[in-house]
Amino acid sequence: MSAGTRSFKDYVDDAGHMALYRAYQQRYARSIRESDRVLIEIIRALVAKRPRPGRPLRLLDVGCSTGNLLGHLKQALPGLALSGADIVSEVIAECRANPDLAGIQFDEMNVLNPPAAGSSFDLVVTNAALMFFDDDELGVALRHLGALAAPGGWFVAFDYFHPFEQRVALTETSRLHPHGLTFHLRPYGVMQRLLEEAGFESPAFRPFHLPIDLPPPSDPGQISSYTVSQQDGGRLCFRGTLYQPWCHLTAQRRR
Ligand SMILES: C[S@@+](CC[C@H](N)C(=O)[O-])C[C@H]1O[C@@H](n2cnc3c(N)ncnc32)[C@H](O)[C@@H]1O
Repeated sequence: MSAGTRSFKDYVDDAGHMALYRAYQQRYARSIRESDRVLIEIIRALVAKRPRPGRPLRLLDVGCSTGNLLGHLKQALPGLALSGADIVSEVIAECRANPDLAGIQFDEMNVLNPPAAGSSFDLVVTNAALMFFDDDELGVALRHLGALAAPGGWFVAFDYFHPFEQRVALTETSRLHPHGLTFHLRPYGVMQRLLEEAGFESPAFRPFHLPIDLPPPSDPGQISSYTVSQQDGGRLCFRGTLYQPWCHLTAQRRR
């Protein structure tokens, strides 16, 4: 972690923060986020391409939080063997106790630590989990994700990726993050290099545009996503004053 910045983990002991974050996640446990809908369709297409190994394909969601994506995947693609991992032990305990997530394996994991040997997943997913890492940490995380992926397996991410040769690190200090939390908006080129070093090839980026309007929060102290319409009918997605270059990414583990 860069000097002077806080990581996501620093906020989990803050009851006020966790109450707000849980309320956010609970909203999307029942009604799926549009970005998760696209993520699931990407996974569906990759599953259809992957040769059948004679057992259910294994998928791991790293930074799974309350397991919303896994719950939706369980409904949409019931043939997958699903696992979730997160650095926060409390959310892992909650996931294990949640009857809607029965049958899914959950483990506490810090992706910045080397993974246990022997696990190999056909699909490794990170959903809004990489933007908190600086480039050095991201390199480490991707190498560990590469070690978790089976040769020929897929990495699927949803994060802040953009086509400009411009590194942006923005520290938000807000009601939700009173001690500051740094977000990294990453050029495709940086991701391509780090993915290559981590053993992945053929990266493909698909910028994500919300198909619905999200109203701005009426309270300026509430920092959440909202859309601004463009003349061509498209929508830009903001978080407070921060433009969010949301993007889906796929890359394949070298064989
Ligand atoms: C913004 S949340 C996204 C949660 C969920 N994937 C979603 O899409 O709503 C980022 C998640 O990554 C987890 N996380 C942060 N650092 C991590 C690390 N080093 N290893 C594993 N998980 C981490 C956090 O605890 C949190 O649940």
